[in-house]
Amino acid sequence: MTVDIAAAAVALEEALPDRPEVLLVLGSGLSGMAELVEAAVEIPFGAVPGYPVTLVAGHPGRYVAGRIDGRPVLIQAGRFHSYEGHDMDVVAAPIRVAAALGVGTVILTNAAGGIARELELGSIMMIDDHMNLQWRSALAGPLVGDEQRFPDMSEPYDRRLQALSMQVARDLRMPLSRGTYAAVAGPSFETPAEVRMLKFFGADAVGMSTVPEATVARALGMRVLAFSMISNRAARRGGEGLSHAEVLETGGKASVALEALIRGVMERMEP
Ligand code: HPA
Repeated sequence: MTVDIAAAAVALEEALPDRPEVLLVLGSGLSGMAELVEAAVEIPFGAVPGYPVTLVAGHPGRYVAGRIDGRPVLIQAGRFHSYEGHDMDVVAAPIRVAAALGVGTVILTNAAGGIARELELGSIMMIDDHMNLQWRSALAGPLVGDEQRFPDMSEPYDRRLQALSMQVARDLRMPLSRGTYAAVAGPSFETPAEVRMLKFFGADAVGMSTVPEATVARALGMRVLAFSMISNRAARRGGEGLSHAEVLETGGKASVALEALIRGVMERMEP
């Protein structure tokens, strides 16, 4: 299935109160952040032509548009994953639609398994680099719009926004790690052998999203900032197994800190 980006953008634009500057994508367990928006207008994914209706923790995916501290933002609660059977162009469609609306900055969040020792439950890692271990690219296929064919990925995540995030975290006296996120195809969680491999590769955290979106955003020249909320340790040995319920529960608790951080970044970033 493919999404007609122009048609989706037109439908969304008609429903939006202002032209958003920032797209904020909320990962599992982080949807509480949508409450931050002032004068919120809700747009269910079902109202956007071509979007599959996806369920996030039992709720349909939706956009919430409005302002955070005066800045017009578009919040996307819920995303499309390739493990749901969606083609990569569906996974990346919301980024292309945001670009078509004139959004210049994308903030991606996700829940991820911690691999690096210091990444404890509920901690937040700013993603400063990534590895695509999904073995396919959201950019494969005919060129779309203004996308670059061979985008440079030597700095996938915006350095200035990262420096600002570190500053905001210091001001909030909030610990903020930074590291490399590995995207795997999922949907099974990793085996212990896979976690050893990821560690050997240099991954600090592992998840099943974000990389396709960041890649397409870079190909469109958008600024990208991304955070992982560590919802669990990847493949614990000898302990209990891992469940999606646990991922959601930790997300709910840690989202308050991540909310404060993102809000501080939005307040202070240059347009
Ligand atoms: N592995 C992969 N994806 C995840 C995990 C994990 O441990 N936790 C949340 N998303």
